[in-house]
Amino acid sequence: MVDHERVASVGLRSKIMSAEGAAALVASGTTIGMSGFTGSGYPKAVPLALASRIEREHAAGNPFRVRVWTGASTGPELDGALAKANGIEFRLPYNSDPIAREKINRGEMEYFDMHLSQVAPMAWQGFLGPLDTAVIEVTAVRPDGSLVPSSSVGNNKTWLDRAQQVIIEVNSWQNAALEGMHDIYYGTALPPHRVPIPLLRPDDRIGEPCLRCDPDKIVAIVETCVPDRNLPFASPDAVAHAIAGHLLEFFRHEVSKGRLPASLLPLQSGVGNIANAVLGGLLDGPFEDMTAYTEVIQDGMLDMLVSGKLRMASATAFSLGPDAAARLNADMPHFRDKIILRPQEISNHPELIRRLGCLAMNGMIEADIYGNVNSTHIMGSRIQNGIGGSGDFARNAYVSIFVAHSIAKDGRISAIVPQASHVDHITQDVQVVVTEQGLADLRGLSPKQRAETIIRNCAHPDYRPALADYFRRAREHSYGQQSPSLLNEALSWHQRYVETGTMRS
Ligand code: COA
Repeated sequence: MVDHERVASVGLRSKIMSAEGAAALVASGTTIGMSGFTGSGYPKAVPLALASRIEREHAAGNPFRVRVWTGASTGPELDGALAKANGIEFRLPYNSDPIAREKINRGEMEYFDMHLSQVAPMAWQGFLGPLDTAVIEVTAVRPDGSLVPSSSVGNNKTWLDRAQQVIIEVNSWQNAALEGMHDIYYGTALPPHRVPIPLLRPDDRIGEPCLRCDPDKIVAIVETCVPDRNLPFASPDAVAHAIAGHLLEFFRHEVSKGRLPASLLPLQSGVGNIANAVLGGLLDGPFEDMTAYTEVIQDGMLDMLVSGKLRMASATAFSLGPDAAARLNADMPHFRDKIILRPQEISNHPELIRRLGCLAMNGMIEADIYGNVNSTHIMGSRIQNGIGGSGDFARNAYVSIFVAHSIAKDGRISAIVPQASHVDHITQDVQVVVTEQGLADLRGLSPKQRAETIIRNCAHPDYRPALADYFRRAREHSYGQQSPSLLNEALSWHQRYVETGTMRS
C-alpha cells in the first residue's frame, strides 16, 4: 500500500516514478551513496530494480557494476541483491550481508572497511572520489521539501549534500511519528573552519529534525511500503548470561570505588548477539537513570527504555528484531521523547565519546594474551563484518570493554590466542576483556601482567594450559622481554585450524 500523502511537497510530486524508472537513471561505473545502517533505513526498491537491470545487462554481455557507499550494513534487497547480481565493484564502510561477504572473501569485490565516524569527513576531504547518485530512504517529504529521516540517519546528510543527483525512496512502512526523533547537525565544516561540536550531554539536541536537500538535484521519488530487515537476535544463553554477570559485577565494583557514578556513564553497546545480551543483564542490574550514547539501539536497549532504567538513548540507527520493531512502532510517540537519532559522524564522534566518557562494550572475534583485539578477520584473512564503530568508541571511551565467548565453533577455536591473527584494537585501546570464564581488568598493567590476567581469567579451561605453557616458554626464549613472543609459534594455532579444522594440538 503506498501513501501519496507522504510526499507533501507539491512541486516534488511530479518526480514520483517506478523503482525501475529510477534505477534506469544510474550509470555503470558510477558511485552510489545509499542510506542504511545495521539493517534499518536502507532503500529497498531501487537497489532491487538496479540488481535486475544489472542481471539483464550481464545476460546481454554488457559489463555493469557500481561502487556502493552506505552508513553501515543494509539488507538483502540492497547488499544481497546487488552482490548476487555481481553488481558491486567496490563497497564501503561496513557489510554483514553473507552473499557480499562471500564475494569479498573470494576476491570478487573490493571492500574498504573503515571507522564509521570517518566516512563523512573523508568524503568531504575528497579522498573517496566523486559521488554520482544518492539513494536515500525517508519517512516523508515535507511541504517545504525537507526530508523526514527514517529508522537510521547514517551518512544521509553527507550523501544528499555531495551527490550530483538524488533518488528518494519514501517508505510508508516507516512510522510517521518518527518525525521529530532525529537531530541533524550541520556544523561539521572541515578544518581550519571547524568549531567544537556543542554537545555536552547525551540528550542535547544541537541540530534540525529533518534533512535538507536541494530540490533541483532530486531526479526521482519512489514510493515503497516495505519493512526493515529486522533479523531476530539469538536468545541469550548461559554464556551470554555469564558475560553479563561479570560485567555487572565490574560496574558495581567501579561504583563502590567511586570511579563511576551510580547511574554509570553513557553506555555504548556494539552489534552482535553477545553485546545485545549484555544489555539484558543491565536490565536486571541495580543501576537506574542510565543514558546511552551509542551507535545502534538494539532490542536490549529498547527493553531498558521501556523499564525506565535507561532514561534516554542517542544513536544513529535502530537494529531491532521483528518483535522489538513492532513494539517500537506501536508506541513511537513515547519512544520519540527518549531516543535521538543523529548522523553517524556525530553518534560516533571521538570528540564527543571522550567528552561524555562512554562505557564502550563491543563484541570481538579474538584477543591475544596481551589484549590486542581482532574484531573483523577470521584466521587473519577472512572478513566477518568490519570494524564498524568499535574503533571510534574503543580508543575514546572512559572504559573500553570487549566481550566474547572464550571458544568458537564448538570448541575447535580459542578466542584467546597467543597472538591475534589481525589487530583492529591495539592493546592500549583495550582496557577490559570479558568472556564467560571471567573478566580481565587490564588498566594499569604491563604486557606480561596483562597476559597472566587474561590467561587466568578469560581463557577456556581446554586452552588455558597451552596458553600458559606458550607464555612460559616465550618468557624463556623471546628476543625481548617487554612483550615476550615466539615468532615461529605465535600464529601456529591459526595455521593448525586452517590445516586441520581445530586449534587443538
Ligand atoms: N574464530 C572464528 N570464528 C569466530 C570466532 C573466532 N575466534 N569468534 C566468533 N566467530 C564466528 C562465530 O562462530 C559466528 O560464525 P557463524 O555466523 O558462522 O555462526 C560469527 O563469528 C559471529 O559470532 P557470534 O559469536 O555470533 O558473535 P556476535 O554476534 O556477538 O558478533 C562480532 C561478534 C565480532 C562478529 C561482531 O561483534 C562484530 O562484527 N564486531 C565488529 C563491529 C563492531 O564492533 N561494531 C560495533 C560498534 S558500535
